Amino acid sequence: MAKEKIILTGDRPTGRLHIGHYVGSLRRRVELQNAGDYKKMFVFIADAQALTDNIDNPEKVRQNVIEVALDYLAAGLDPTKSTLFIQSQIPELCELSFYFMDLVTVSRLQRNPTVKTEIQMRNFETSIPVGFFTYPISQAADITAFKATTVPVGEDQEPMIEQTREIVRRFNYIYGETLVEPEILLPDNAACLRLPGTDGKAKMSKSLGNCIYLSDSADEVQKKIKSMYTDPNHLRVTDPGQIEGNTVFTYLDAFCRPEHFERYWNEYPNLDELKAHYQRGGLGDMKVKKFLNEIMQETLEPIRNRRKEFEKDIPAIYDMLKKGCATARETAAATLDEVRRSMKINYFDDVELIAEQAKRFSAE
Ligand code: TRP
Repeated sequence: MAKEKIILTGDRPTGRLHIGHYVGSLRRRVELQNAGDYKKMFVFIADAQALTDNIDNPEKVRQNVIEVALDYLAAGLDPTKSTLFIQSQIPELCELSFYFMDLVTVSRLQRNPTVKTEIQMRNFETSIPVGFFTYPISQAADITAFKATTVPVGEDQEPMIEQTREIVRRFNYIYGETLVEPEILLPDNAACLRLPGTDGKAKMSKSLGNCIYLSDSADEVQKKIKSMYTDPNHLRVTDPGQIEGNTVFTYLDAFCRPEHFERYWNEYPNLDELKAHYQRGGLGDMKVKKFLNEIMQETLEPIRNRRKEFEKDIPAIYDMLKKGCATARETAAATLDEVRRSMKINYFDDVELIAEQAKRFSAE
Protein backbone atom coordinates (compact mmCIF):
# COMPACT_ATOMS: atom_id res chain seq x y z
CA MET A 1 0.00 0.00 0.00
CA ALA A 2 1.22 3.48 -0.80
CA LYS A 3 2.32 5.53 2.13
CA GLU A 4 -0.13 8.39 2.25
CA LYS A 5 0.31 9.88 5.67
CA ILE A 6 1.84 13.31 6.08
CA ILE A 7 2.53 13.83 9.76
CA LEU A 8 3.04 17.30 11.17
CA THR A 9 3.23 18.77 14.63
CA GLY A 10 5.06 21.39 16.65
CA ASP A 11 5.67 23.05 20.00
CA ARG A 12 5.96 26.61 21.23
CA PRO A 13 9.49 27.35 22.40
CA THR A 14 8.64 28.91 25.75
CA GLY A 15 10.62 26.46 27.90
CA ARG A 16 12.39 23.14 27.90
CA LEU A 17 10.08 20.21 27.15
CA HIS A 18 8.75 18.18 30.08
CA ILE A 19 7.33 14.70 30.51
CA GLY A 20 3.82 16.04 29.81
CA HIS A 21 5.00 16.91 26.29
CA TYR A 22 6.68 13.53 26.12
CA VAL A 23 3.67 11.33 26.87
CA GLY A 24 1.24 13.76 25.21
CA SER A 25 2.88 13.73 21.81
CA LEU A 26 6.66 13.46 21.59
CA ARG A 27 6.88 9.73 22.40
CA ARG A 28 4.21 9.04 19.77
CA ARG A 29 6.05 11.07 17.14
CA VAL A 30 9.21 9.08 17.66
CA GLU A 31 7.24 5.82 17.39
CA LEU A 32 5.56 7.01 14.19
CA GLN A 33 8.89 8.11 12.80
CA ASN A 34 10.54 4.80 13.53
CA ALA A 35 7.62 2.76 12.22
CA GLY A 36 8.20 4.56 8.92
CA ASP A 37 4.62 4.25 7.70
CA TYR A 38 4.33 7.75 6.28
CA LYS A 39 5.18 9.78 3.22
CA LYS A 40 6.62 12.77 5.05
CA MET A 41 7.00 13.90 8.61
CA PHE A 42 7.45 17.50 9.77
CA VAL A 43 8.14 18.65 13.32
CA PHE A 44 8.58 22.33 13.93
CA ILE A 45 9.36 24.90 16.57
CA ALA A 46 6.46 27.37 16.66
CA ASP A 47 8.48 30.49 17.51
CA ALA A 48 6.11 32.89 15.71
CA GLN A 49 3.20 31.47 17.69
CA ALA A 50 5.21 31.75 20.92
CA LEU A 51 5.71 35.44 20.15
CA THR A 52 1.95 36.04 20.00
CA ASP A 53 1.90 36.15 23.80
CA ASN A 54 5.59 36.88 24.44
CA ILE A 55 6.01 39.81 22.13
CA ASP A 56 8.02 41.79 24.71
CA ASN A 57 10.23 38.82 25.50
CA PRO A 58 11.92 37.79 22.24
CA GLU A 59 15.03 36.67 24.09
CA LYS A 60 13.05 33.97 25.93
CA VAL A 61 11.73 32.59 22.65
CA ARG A 62 15.18 32.74 21.03
CA GLN A 63 16.84 30.87 23.93
CA ASN A 64 14.21 28.17 23.94
CA VAL A 65 14.37 27.40 20.21
CA ILE A 66 17.64 25.54 20.75
CA GLU A 67 16.38 23.96 24.00
CA VAL A 68 13.38 22.49 22.17
CA ALA A 69 15.56 21.36 19.26
CA LEU A 70 17.83 19.55 21.75
CA ASP A 71 14.83 17.96 23.45
CA TYR A 72 13.54 16.75 20.06
CA LEU A 73 16.84 15.13 19.15
CA ALA A 74 17.28 13.74 22.66
CA ALA A 75 13.82 12.15 22.54
CA GLY A 76 14.78 10.40 19.31
CA LEU A 77 13.54 12.57 16.46
CA ASP A 78 15.92 11.96 13.61
CA PRO A 79 16.54 14.66 10.99
CA THR A 80 17.28 12.02 8.38
CA LYS A 81 13.73 10.72 8.80
CA SER A 82 11.74 13.83 9.68
CA THR A 83 12.09 17.46 8.70
CA LEU A 84 12.74 19.64 11.74
CA PHE A 85 12.30 23.36 11.15
CA ILE A 86 11.48 26.76 12.64
CA GLN A 87 8.09 28.32 11.89
CA SER A 88 9.18 31.95 11.41
CA GLN A 89 11.56 30.99 8.62
CA ILE A 90 8.70 29.96 6.32
CA PRO A 91 7.13 33.21 5.07
CA GLU A 92 4.55 31.24 3.07
CA LEU A 93 2.83 30.50 6.39
CA CYS A 94 2.12 34.23 6.89
CA GLU A 95 0.78 34.53 3.40
CA LEU A 96 -1.56 31.59 3.83
CA SER A 97 -2.74 32.89 7.23
CA PHE A 98 -3.66 36.18 5.60
CA TYR A 99 -5.90 34.45 3.05
CA PHE A 100 -7.42 32.22 5.72
CA MET A 101 -8.42 35.30 7.74
CA ASP A 102 -11.16 35.95 5.18
CA LEU A 103 -12.66 32.54 5.91
CA VAL A 104 -13.10 32.87 9.67
CA THR A 105 -15.41 35.13 11.66
CA VAL A 106 -14.55 36.96 14.85
CA SER A 107 -17.34 35.16 16.70
CA ARG A 108 -16.00 31.77 15.59
CA LEU A 109 -12.59 32.64 17.03
CA GLN A 110 -14.21 33.85 20.24
CA ARG A 111 -15.84 30.45 20.63
CA ASN A 112 -12.53 28.54 20.46
CA PRO A 113 -12.36 27.02 23.98
CA THR A 114 -8.56 26.83 24.12
CA VAL A 115 -8.17 30.48 23.15
CA LYS A 116 -10.87 31.38 25.67
CA THR A 117 -9.04 29.74 28.58
CA GLU A 118 -5.69 31.10 27.47
CA ILE A 119 -7.08 34.64 27.36
CA GLN A 120 -8.30 34.19 30.95
CA MET A 121 -5.01 32.67 32.10
CA ARG A 122 -3.03 35.57 30.66
CA ASN A 123 -5.36 38.27 32.06
CA PHE A 124 -5.62 39.90 28.64
CA GLU A 125 -9.24 40.92 29.34
CA THR A 126 -10.03 43.46 26.63
CA SER A 127 -6.46 44.12 25.50
CA ILE A 128 -6.02 40.90 23.56
CA PRO A 129 -3.32 41.15 20.88
CA VAL A 130 -4.88 40.49 17.47
CA GLY A 131 -2.03 38.10 16.65
CA PHE A 132 -2.79 36.03 19.74
CA PHE A 133 -6.52 36.06 19.07
CA THR A 134 -5.97 34.80 15.55
CA TYR A 135 -3.31 32.18 16.25
CA PRO A 136 -5.74 29.32 15.49
CA ILE A 137 -5.82 30.69 11.93
CA SER A 138 -2.06 30.73 11.71
CA GLN A 139 -2.02 27.20 13.12
CA ALA A 140 -4.38 26.14 10.33
CA ALA A 141 -1.84 27.56 7.88
CA ASP A 142 0.99 25.62 9.60
CA ILE A 143 -0.92 22.41 9.07
CA THR A 144 -2.36 22.92 5.59
CA ALA A 145 0.75 24.41 3.97
CA PHE A 146 2.26 20.94 4.31
CA LYS A 147 -0.97 19.11 3.42
CA ALA A 148 -0.69 17.28 6.73
CA THR A 149 -3.12 14.38 7.15
CA THR A 150 -2.17 13.48 10.71
CA VAL A 151 -1.44 15.82 13.61
CA PRO A 152 -0.22 14.14 16.83
CA VAL A 153 -0.93 16.63 19.63
CA GLY A 154 -2.37 16.83 23.13
CA GLU A 155 -6.05 17.15 23.91
CA ASP A 156 -5.86 20.94 24.36
CA GLN A 157 -5.12 21.26 20.63
CA GLU A 158 -8.39 19.61 19.56
CA PRO A 159 -10.20 22.94 18.95
CA MET A 160 -7.33 24.06 16.70
CA ILE A 161 -7.60 20.98 14.52
CA GLU A 162 -11.38 21.35 14.36
CA GLN A 163 -11.00 24.97 13.28
CA THR A 164 -8.43 23.93 10.68
CA ARG A 165 -10.85 21.38 9.26
CA GLU A 166 -13.54 24.05 8.97
CA ILE A 167 -11.17 26.40 7.16
CA VAL A 168 -10.14 23.65 4.74
CA ARG A 169 -13.77 22.76 3.98
CA ARG A 170 -14.64 26.39 3.35
CA PHE A 171 -11.56 26.99 1.24
CA ASN A 172 -12.18 23.92 -0.92
CA TYR A 173 -15.88 24.77 -1.25
CA ILE A 174 -15.20 28.30 -2.48
CA TYR A 175 -12.02 27.81 -4.49
CA GLY A 176 -12.17 24.13 -5.45
CA GLU A 177 -10.47 21.04 -3.99
CA THR A 178 -6.99 22.24 -2.98
CA LEU A 179 -6.26 21.65 0.70
CA VAL A 180 -6.33 18.53 2.90
CA GLU A 181 -8.46 18.07 6.04
CA PRO A 182 -6.18 16.87 8.85
CA GLU A 183 -7.00 14.33 11.55
CA ILE A 184 -5.92 14.73 15.15
CA LEU A 185 -3.96 11.86 16.69
CA LEU A 186 -4.49 11.80 20.47
CA PRO A 187 -2.66 9.58 22.96
CA ASP A 188 -4.69 6.39 23.46
CA ASN A 189 -4.06 6.28 27.21
CA ALA A 190 -6.17 8.60 29.41
CA ALA A 191 -3.25 9.36 31.75
CA CYS A 192 -1.24 10.65 28.79
CA LEU A 193 -3.97 12.96 27.54
CA ARG A 194 -3.35 15.43 30.32
CA LEU A 195 -0.53 14.46 32.63
CA PRO A 196 -0.92 16.40 35.89
CA GLY A 197 1.93 18.31 37.52
CA THR A 198 3.91 16.73 40.37
CA ASP A 199 1.72 18.75 42.78
CA GLY A 200 -1.42 17.07 41.43
CA LYS A 201 -2.59 20.25 39.68
CA ALA A 202 -4.35 19.78 36.38
CA LYS A 203 -1.46 20.66 34.09
CA MET A 204 2.31 20.80 34.13
CA SER A 205 3.40 24.35 33.74
CA LYS A 206 6.64 26.15 34.24
CA SER A 207 5.03 28.95 36.22
CA LEU A 208 3.60 26.45 38.73
CA GLY A 209 7.01 24.79 39.18
CA ASN A 210 5.43 21.34 38.96
CA CYS A 211 7.23 19.92 35.93
CA ILE A 212 9.70 17.11 35.44
CA TYR A 213 11.82 18.16 32.48
CA LEU A 214 13.29 15.72 29.98
CA SER A 215 16.66 17.32 30.73
CA ASP A 216 16.41 17.17 34.57
CA SER A 217 19.31 15.40 36.28
CA ALA A 218 18.72 12.02 37.93
CA ASP A 219 18.83 13.75 41.35
CA GLU A 220 16.27 16.37 40.34
CA VAL A 221 13.92 13.70 39.06
CA GLN A 222 14.25 11.68 42.25
CA LYS A 223 13.67 14.73 44.45
CA LYS A 224 10.57 15.71 42.49
CA ILE A 225 9.15 12.20 42.72
CA LYS A 226 9.80 12.03 46.47
CA SER A 227 7.80 15.18 47.10
CA MET A 228 5.01 14.22 44.72
CA TYR A 229 1.35 14.63 45.57
CA THR A 230 -0.41 11.36 46.48
CA ASP A 231 -3.56 10.69 48.51
CA PRO A 232 -3.66 13.26 51.34
CA ASN A 233 -5.77 10.89 53.49
CA HIS A 234 -3.34 7.99 53.20
CA LEU A 235 -1.55 8.83 56.46
CA ARG A 236 -0.54 5.44 57.81
CA VAL A 237 0.74 2.57 55.70
CA THR A 238 -2.19 0.47 56.91
CA ASP A 239 -4.77 3.02 55.74
CA PRO A 240 -6.61 2.26 52.51
CA GLY A 241 -5.33 4.53 49.73
CA GLN A 242 -7.02 6.26 46.81
CA ILE A 243 -5.86 5.78 43.24
CA GLU A 244 -8.05 8.44 41.63
CA GLY A 245 -6.32 11.80 41.56
CA ASN A 246 -3.19 10.20 43.01
CA THR A 247 -0.42 11.60 40.85
CA VAL A 248 2.00 8.74 41.47
CA PHE A 249 -0.50 6.28 40.04
CA THR A 250 -1.38 8.57 37.14
CA TYR A 251 2.32 8.65 36.23
CA LEU A 252 2.49 4.87 36.54
CA ASP A 253 -0.46 4.64 34.14
CA ALA A 254 1.48 6.79 31.69
CA PHE A 255 4.92 5.17 32.01
CA CYS A 256 4.71 1.69 33.53
CA ARG A 257 5.03 -1.38 31.31
CA PRO A 258 4.73 -5.05 32.40
CA GLU A 259 8.49 -5.63 32.15
CA HIS A 260 9.07 -2.92 34.77
CA PHE A 261 7.57 -5.27 37.36
CA GLU A 262 9.92 -8.07 36.32
CA ARG A 263 12.86 -5.73 36.55
CA TYR A 264 12.11 -3.66 39.65
CA TRP A 265 9.26 -5.11 41.68
CA ASN A 266 8.47 -8.74 41.03
CA GLU A 267 6.24 -8.98 44.12
CA TYR A 268 3.44 -7.79 41.84
CA PRO A 269 2.47 -9.31 38.48
CA ASN A 270 1.05 -6.05 37.11
CA LEU A 271 -0.20 -2.54 37.81
CA ASP A 272 -3.75 -3.68 38.65
CA GLU A 273 -2.49 -5.87 41.49
CA LEU A 274 -0.32 -3.06 42.81
CA LYS A 275 -3.29 -0.68 42.74
CA ALA A 276 -5.51 -3.21 44.50
CA HIS A 277 -2.99 -3.59 47.33
CA TYR A 278 -2.72 0.19 47.73
CA GLN A 279 -6.51 0.49 47.86
CA ARG A 280 -6.81 -2.29 50.47
CA GLY A 281 -4.19 -0.64 52.66
CA GLY A 282 -0.81 -1.88 53.79
CA LEU A 283 1.26 -0.31 51.03
CA GLY A 284 3.22 2.87 51.76
CA ASP A 285 3.66 5.80 49.36
CA MET A 286 7.46 5.67 49.58
CA LYS A 287 7.58 2.15 48.09
CA VAL A 288 5.38 3.14 45.17
CA LYS A 289 7.42 6.30 44.63
CA LYS A 290 10.62 4.26 44.63
CA PHE A 291 9.16 2.05 41.88
CA LEU A 292 8.05 5.09 39.89
CA ASN A 293 11.52 6.56 40.26
CA GLU A 294 13.11 3.38 38.81
CA ILE A 295 10.81 3.60 35.81
CA MET A 296 11.32 7.33 35.27
CA GLN A 297 15.09 7.01 35.52
CA GLU A 298 15.06 4.15 33.02
CA THR A 299 12.92 6.24 30.64
CA LEU A 300 14.77 9.52 31.02
CA GLU A 301 18.37 8.38 31.24
CA PRO A 302 18.86 7.61 27.54
CA ILE A 303 17.14 10.89 26.64
CA ARG A 304 19.39 12.84 29.02
CA ASN A 305 22.52 11.11 27.70
CA ARG A 306 21.62 11.76 24.08
CA ARG A 307 20.99 15.42 24.91
CA LYS A 308 24.49 15.70 26.43
CA GLU A 309 25.97 14.35 23.21
CA PHE A 310 24.03 16.77 21.04
CA GLU A 311 24.95 19.70 23.31
CA LYS A 312 28.58 19.17 22.32
CA ASP A 313 27.98 20.47 18.80
CA ILE A 314 25.43 23.29 18.88
CA PRO A 315 26.45 24.78 15.50
CA ALA A 316 25.58 21.42 13.89
CA ILE A 317 22.07 21.70 15.30
CA TYR A 318 21.53 25.15 13.83
CA ASP A 319 22.84 23.80 10.56
CA MET A 320 20.40 20.87 10.69
CA LEU A 321 17.51 23.28 11.41
CA LYS A 322 18.56 25.54 8.55
CA LYS A 323 18.46 22.59 6.16
CA GLY A 324 15.10 21.57 7.58
CA CYS A 325 13.76 25.07 6.95
CA ALA A 326 14.88 24.93 3.33
CA THR A 327 13.16 21.57 2.79
CA ALA A 328 10.00 22.70 4.56
CA ARG A 329 9.92 25.89 2.55
CA GLU A 330 9.94 23.99 -0.72
CA THR A 331 6.84 22.07 0.31
CA ALA A 332 5.03 25.16 1.60
CA ALA A 333 5.89 27.12 -1.55
CA ALA A 334 4.46 24.36 -3.76
CA THR A 335 1.19 24.43 -1.79
CA LEU A 336 1.05 28.22 -2.00
CA ASP A 337 1.39 28.02 -5.79
CA GLU A 338 -1.70 25.83 -5.83
CA VAL A 339 -3.51 28.11 -3.39
CA ARG A 340 -2.82 31.19 -5.51
CA ARG A 341 -4.01 29.38 -8.61
CA SER A 342 -7.23 28.29 -6.88
CA MET A 343 -7.80 31.82 -5.57
CA LYS A 344 -7.17 33.28 -9.01
CA ILE A 345 -4.32 35.48 -7.89
CA ASN A 346 -1.69 33.85 -10.12
CA TYR A 347 -1.47 36.58 -12.74
CA PHE A 348 1.90 35.95 -14.30
CA ASP A 349 2.07 32.21 -14.76
CA ASP A 350 -1.33 31.94 -16.42
CA VAL A 351 -0.79 32.14 -20.17
CA GLU A 352 -4.49 31.68 -20.86
CA LEU A 353 -5.48 34.59 -18.63
CA ILE A 354 -3.14 36.96 -20.40
CA ALA A 355 -4.31 35.83 -23.83
CA GLU A 356 -7.96 36.09 -22.80
CA GLN A 357 -7.54 39.62 -21.49
CA ALA A 358 -5.64 40.66 -24.60
CA LYS A 359 -8.52 39.37 -26.72
CA ARG A 360 -11.14 41.11 -24.58
CA PHE A 361 -9.50 44.47 -24.97
CA SER A 362 -8.72 44.12 -28.69
CA ALA A 363 -12.40 43.29 -29.32
CA GLU A 364 -13.60 46.47 -27.60
N1 TRP B 1 -0.22 25.23 19.50
C1 TRP B 1 0.83 24.26 19.62
C2 TRP B 1 1.32 24.30 21.09
O1 TRP B 1 0.81 25.03 21.87
C3 TRP B 1 1.99 24.53 18.71
C4 TRP B 1 1.61 24.50 17.25
C5 TRP B 1 1.64 25.55 16.39
C6 TRP B 1 1.17 23.37 16.50
N2 TRP B 1 1.25 25.17 15.15
C7 TRP B 1 0.95 23.84 15.18
C8 TRP B 1 0.92 22.03 16.80
C9 TRP B 1 0.49 23.00 14.17
C10 TRP B 1 0.47 21.18 15.78
C11 TRP B 1 0.25 21.67 14.48
O2 TRP B 1 2.25 23.61 21.43
